[in-house]
Amino acid sequence: MTTMTTTTTTTVLEASGVTMRFGGLTAVRSVDLTVNSGEIVGLIGPNGAGKTTFFNCLTGLYVPTEGKVSYKGTVLPAKPHLVTDAGIARTFQNIRLFANMTVLENVLVGRHTRTKEGLWSALLRGPGFKKAEAASHARAMELLEFIGLAHKADHLSRNLPYGEQRKLEIARALASEPGLLLLDEPTAGMNPQETRAAEELVFAIRDQGIAVLVIEHDMRFIFNLCDRVAVLVQGEKLVEGTSEVVQADERVVAAYLGTPFEGAPGAAEVAEVEAAEAEAAAAPDDAPSDTPGATGTGNSGTSTTGSEGKSL
Ligand SMILES: Nc1ncnc2c1ncn2[C@@H]1O[C@H](COP(=O)(O)OP(=O)(O)OP(=O)(O)O)[C@@H](O)[C@H]1O
Ligand SMILES: [Mg+2]
Repeated sequence: MTTMTTTTTTTVLEASGVTMRFGGLTAVRSVDLTVNSGEIVGLIGPNGAGKTTFFNCLTGLYVPTEGKVSYKGTVLPAKPHLVTDAGIARTFQNIRLFANMTVLENVLVGRHTRTKEGLWSALLRGPGFKKAEAASHARAMELLEFIGLAHKADHLSRNLPYGEQRKLEIARALASEPGLLLLDEPTAGMNPQETRAAEELVFAIRDQGIAVLVIEHDMRFIFNLCDRVAVLVQGEKLVEGTSEVVQADERVVAAYLGTPFEGAPGAAEVAEVEAAEAEAAAAPDDAPSDTPGATGTGNSGTSTTGSEGKSL
């Protein structure tokens, strides 16, 4: 495990035909995605593209309307705790920590799926329990060391700065000893230095033999990190390939800037809106524009993603 052997690639995650409908809305449409051992795979797409919904389908939070998800060759039941038991851990876009627990306690919570000591053992606090507890404590501290938060082990998690809370979520996820880690916007709210450090952290996680699937809006982060990137647009996988391939694909740029491209989901609606805008622009301009914030029709993309500091 410690030395690099001639690695045979195995399929860690295989999602096939995953579809998730909410009433009339199809948030994820027939998405296939594979993650292999040793890989860091990125999942990108504009806001509302279905990325988090797809994660929720992978982790049993949602039961997909169609499709199936396998982990290391076994179809996963759609129950979050069984998915965690199987070996998939995740972090959440909206941080989910126990605010009034310490940093260490939050990591210990993440370990409970891997500790075999039962309720009675815990209540009676017998030698078995004490031994297991000590081992859990040691492992949790090791993980805190790994993410650089060991010195804050006894701080309340709510007192951590945002970037550190994100890292703590990662430690908590790692505490379940996963084979695959899913990260939903791990650098949201981080400053550039923290983001760089998070990049190193993800590489280090991969080097520990854990495959990673990561959602992010920070494109520099994604393209530096990922062996492969899949692009979701309006619930559908638009492109998948290496960073170079995805970066060079004009449909990806178009999807982010809201520019329609041939065959784009919703292209007809976009064309309709554009036609209406063109018509309005062509109207005699004797009256000043009364559209709030309408400073031009150039649509240069400066604010089209509506995201705060999220870069393409
Ligand atoms: N539980 C739900 N019920 C109804 N609609 C939902 C539900 N969860 C998500 N959606 C809808 O599904 C679509 C995809 O949302 P999702 O959160 O997966 O997007 P996302 O790609 O993660 O976006 P972001 O980058 O903003 O996080 C959106 O239109 C959203 O409103
Ligand atoms: Mg999301």
